[in-house]
Amino acid sequence: MKINILAIESSCDETSAAIISDGKILNNIIATQSVHEKYGGVVPELASRAHQQHLIPVVHEAIENSGISKNELSAIAFTKGPGLMGSLLVGVSFAKSFAYSLGIPLIDINHMQAHILAHFIDDPKPEFPFICLTVSGGHTQLVLVKGYLDMEVIGETMDDAVGEAFDKTAKLLGLPYPGGPLIDKYAKEGNTKAFPFPVSDMPGLSFSFSGIKTAVLYFLRDQLKGNPNFVQENLADLCASIQFTLIKMLMQKLKKAANLYKINHIAIAGGVSANSGLRAELQLLANKHGWKVYIPKFEYCTDNAAMIAMAAHFKYMKGEFCGLDVVPEARMKI
Ligand code: KG4
Ligand code: ZN
Repeated sequence: MKINILAIESSCDETSAAIISDGKILNNIIATQSVHEKYGGVVPELASRAHQQHLIPVVHEAIENSGISKNELSAIAFTKGPGLMGSLLVGVSFAKSFAYSLGIPLIDINHMQAHILAHFIDDPKPEFPFICLTVSGGHTQLVLVKGYLDMEVIGETMDDAVGEAFDKTAKLLGLPYPGGPLIDKYAKEGNTKAFPFPVSDMPGLSFSFSGIKTAVLYFLRDQLKGNPNFVQENLADLCASIQFTLIKMLMQKLKKAANLYKINHIAIAGGVSANSGLRAELQLLANKHGWKVYIPKFEYCTDNAAMIAMAAHFKYMKGEFCGLDVVPEARMKI
């Protein structure tokens, strides 16, 4: 009898369902919420409503497309946190009801652990211990990964997440939400050294990304006084300079962590790991320092249920289930 798990992700603004069978991902269905674009950021209330609308069709598609009937499911997994409370509640409530009606166990998953465990979906798989730089819209963490479910945060941001810095500076440039992928796109044509923005250096392995937002705000305010078309005329250089600064801040701490822990197996995870500049810089550092680096496939960088399913498989194998009284945790820690 195969172990078939249905996994649900609803922590922010993607509604996703995936099926994993004996550790192999069969599908990964994602419904992206476009409703937030015009507001320049995720509106929590609208996100929960959109999850309500999308969840059942997405789960239905995942089950249909897998060729496995719902009666062959061994467990239901869901994102317990961290994330937006209203969004998490939709996934948790659905998972509970479905597991209860089928009489099968429930598995609660930490979203940040799942981003890291996405590396075990395909080959090559990282060897333990490795360091993972997890970079998303809500988090920036350096994680020492000692085992599938044995992880320790060794550094994190003191203020904004790096994805937030991408999105907020993009907004200052007049780009729609989420601005991270657009900064990446325009940066390809720009000069990284055109506008030197300040690089913060926090103590130890801590990051800080709030300064760049203010630096870009004041810089643009001054430039726009002299030339109202400054942003349009310099968009590629602005994007390249902002991206270069953010990547520099990430890489300086990653190098520090690798030296401190004497680990040369390095992974990146989370939405910002889709950034082409970050991927290229990591590859350069790998060649320079002899690191073995693990860069996830694009579809497993941003939020998806396949990573929740992968994490659920490891928890199922250890017999780690949760009760029907489980509640979401918006600020869940690794
Ligand atoms: O992991 P994720 O999908 O959701 C959270 O858990 O936050 O990450 C979303 C973040 C957003 O801030 C988005 O702008 C950023 O990832 N992102 C990127 C790129 N693709 C997504 N940032 C820079 N370059 C990209 N190519
Ligand atoms: Zn995420």
